[in-house]
Amino acid sequence: MEIEKLGLKKEILNTLKNLGIKDTNDLIYIGDKVLSDILGVSREKALELIKECYKYYEIELKPVTEMKESIDVLESPLEAYNKFFGGFRSRRIFEFYGKFGSGKTNFLMTIAVDSLLKGHKVIWFDTEGTLSLDRVQEIFVKRSNFKGIEPNLDLLKNFYVKRVGHSDEIVFASIRLGKLVESTGARVIIFDSLTAPFRSDYAGIGELAERQIVLGYVMRSLLRMAELLNLWIFFSNQVVSVVSPTGQVSHEAVSPIGGNVLQHLASEIYYLKKKGNERYFCVKDVPDLPELEIPFKITEAGVVEK
Ligand code: GTP
Ligand code: MG
Repeated sequence: MEIEKLGLKKEILNTLKNLGIKDTNDLIYIGDKVLSDILGVSREKALELIKECYKYYEIELKPVTEMKESIDVLESPLEAYNKFFGGFRSRRIFEFYGKFGSGKTNFLMTIAVDSLLKGHKVIWFDTEGTLSLDRVQEIFVKRSNFKGIEPNLDLLKNFYVKRVGHSDEIVFASIRLGKLVESTGARVIIFDSLTAPFRSDYAGIGELAERQIVLGYVMRSLLRMAELLNLWIFFSNQVVSVVSPTGQVSHEAVSPIGGNVLQHLASEIYYLKKKGNERYFCVKDVPDLPELEIPFKITEAGVVEK
């Protein structure tokens, strides 16, 4: 049911509509924690509103035969990877994790440029301030040359960027993504990195549970948007060193941050490994792909297979 029919105060209704929330089901989906933050009301008040929405909740079943939805494929910068699927499949979320300097930002910039060259529009959420126009332009020109096409820098107008500071901005971005996609026509969405703001805004073990709830909400929203709007959503993630049972810290064994919530909701997980001067793109957790490691290098043309 449309939220107009709930008889909400005008300012509350406007806040929700500005975020692209149209339906009572959207409010149920958001949950009381995020809703109380958005509206600046107590958790109890938010829960009251959500319970009102329960009254209108209906489960619509559909036959499995209607589930088949078209999947589009975006070529990855690595040929060896494309041999399996032709590239990255749409309606999914892709996680790239790795140590600092492992090439996450360069990999994502290369994907962004290839997307532009294929006629797609891109939205990039930069949480680390590491996206550089000069570097994007360089990759764009070199990759155009590489593909034997005249560099058309006008295409960079299809690359939208938002510098993000606080983790709440990521929450809003995930809620508003539908609107942003509608207004820009973008289908490739990139968060570099998704987790950095959460790491700094939620300190210590005491706030961990709350951080996971919010991260879970963000991931579910993104997945829902990817599925509904036929998007590719890429995000980078940092790592922590794994401590052995004897208390030794290994700098080789690393694990992505963000806990189970992140790893379960990402559709596909890749690890960018740096060993000495060698770099590898490692398939870590992709339901229908074997674990494999593809060597790559970072060049003026971005990421290329070695
Ligand atoms: P963090 O964001 O710090 O976690 O790192 P990252 O994983 O995003 O790594 P990034 O993509 O920033 O890669 C950094 C590395 O790429 C640098 O250490 C350089 O070795 C290499 N690099 C960056 N730009 C260039 C370039 O223009 N040419 C070449 N050959 N290498 C580059
Ligand atoms: Mg980076």
